[in-house]
Amino acid sequence: MPPLVQTLAWAMAPTWLMDRCARTLGEWFTLTFFPSGMQLVLVSDPEAVKTAFTASPEVAPSGAANSPVAPVMGPHSVIVLTGAEHLRQRKLLLPPFHGERMREYEDAIVEATRRDMAAWPVGKPMRLHERTRAITLEVILRAVFGVEAERMDRVREAVGTLLVPASTLLLMRLALRRPSLERPGGEFGQALDRLDAVLYEELERRRSREDLAERRDILSLLMQARDEDGQPMTDAELRDELVSLLLAGHETTATSVAWAIERLVRHPDKLERLVAEIDAHPDGGEEYMTAVVNETLRVRPVVPIVVRMLKGELQVGPYTLPAGTRLTPSIYLTNRNPRVYREPDEFRPERFLDSAPETFSWIPFGGGIRRCIGAAFAQLEMKLILRTVLSELQPTLPRGRRWRAGEGTRRRAITLVPAAGARVVWRRRGASV
Ligand code: HEM
Repeated sequence: MPPLVQTLAWAMAPTWLMDRCARTLGEWFTLTFFPSGMQLVLVSDPEAVKTAFTASPEVAPSGAANSPVAPVMGPHSVIVLTGAEHLRQRKLLLPPFHGERMREYEDAIVEATRRDMAAWPVGKPMRLHERTRAITLEVILRAVFGVEAERMDRVREAVGTLLVPASTLLLMRLALRRPSLERPGGEFGQALDRLDAVLYEELERRRSREDLAERRDILSLLMQARDEDGQPMTDAELRDELVSLLLAGHETTATSVAWAIERLVRHPDKLERLVAEIDAHPDGGEEYMTAVVNETLRVRPVVPIVVRMLKGELQVGPYTLPAGTRLTPSIYLTNRNPRVYREPDEFRPERFLDSAPETFSWIPFGGGIRRCIGAAFAQLEMKLILRTVLSELQPTLPRGRRWRAGEGTRRRAITLVPAAGARVVWRRRGASV
């Protein structure tokens, strides 16, 4: 295809383009974008993915510094940095995301879900994605700011604006024409300014408080964290990490929950099995739930690709890729590689009952030293939201033939979301239909 057509298809129908290329070209192909001529070498061979994720970060650092997220998250963001600076930020950020800390977020997740569900219509169609987005925003605000999240309306509003669909176009423009660390302008830039102002105010306020050492929220932990030289994070670093966590941490998870329900409602036998497990183990017997979450993240990954920008030559499978290549594991295609998965397009949680996902062929959270810091948090959140909702409500399809087929995939900024917002009609459990 001419680069202009590839570019339009990548912007408007990325899964169609990837499926088509995989069908005709296989596990390796190159996309070329117009007008920059920028190229991505997409791979979905698990061996190539392994090489990309395990190569030394000097040779294959993340390409996020040149990605559309960089100007928003800022130059100190763990998502944007590479090399030693990346490792320093990553080490400072990891402790609040360790396994045993997770318990502390459980109540916040269940509470936020119950509060939102109280206003859901029963018997009428609803776009679930809008509501899961509100729930996960509350959860991340609560986890990051603690009880003070209650009065964070200005953050709520600014983050909402940063993620409106209009920003998709802006991000694509930034991606294709001007990959730089320049801050965006316009409405988007103003929302970013407002967010920054509140975050800096909050840092100032906390610093003057005496109970900082006793507080358990992520911001307080980050303010007290020290690197190997005993140095705390600067305000600019704290700002960039907070924005990164707020943005990376909520839209992705919200979309994954929406996809889970979108899939389950079209597979009544799976839904029934899940609900039976929830009823039998209200406090979390999780075998089938884990399989449902793993399968949703496999078949509907929200982040389609990750990029490693080669700084030196790298042998990947049969190819020697030169420095400057954007080696791009396709999460979408790797997760449905027909050499690894039988009936890869089918939603079949059972495939994960006997075998856990493999590190390099199930990659919704990327991999290597850049693997998503929030993976455990996100999976816990998905399970708790699903459990809380399905304990009370049963999802059914809206009336009409068009809803029987699954929802298509639409691009929203850098994520892949259900095209109709995961439309469902809720029934109260136990009520006659
Ligand atoms: C289902 C939900 C989520 C998905 C699918 C997801 C996916 C990803 C992916 C694909 C990457 C890039 C990995 C790579 O380059 O190899 C990433 C990185 C990251 N994610 Fe997530 N994420 C999710 C939830 C979260 C949450 C809840 C948080 C935090 C609260 C979070 C924070 C981060 C951070 C900080 C990074 C950068 C890690 C680094 O570069 O060292 N994510 N995520």
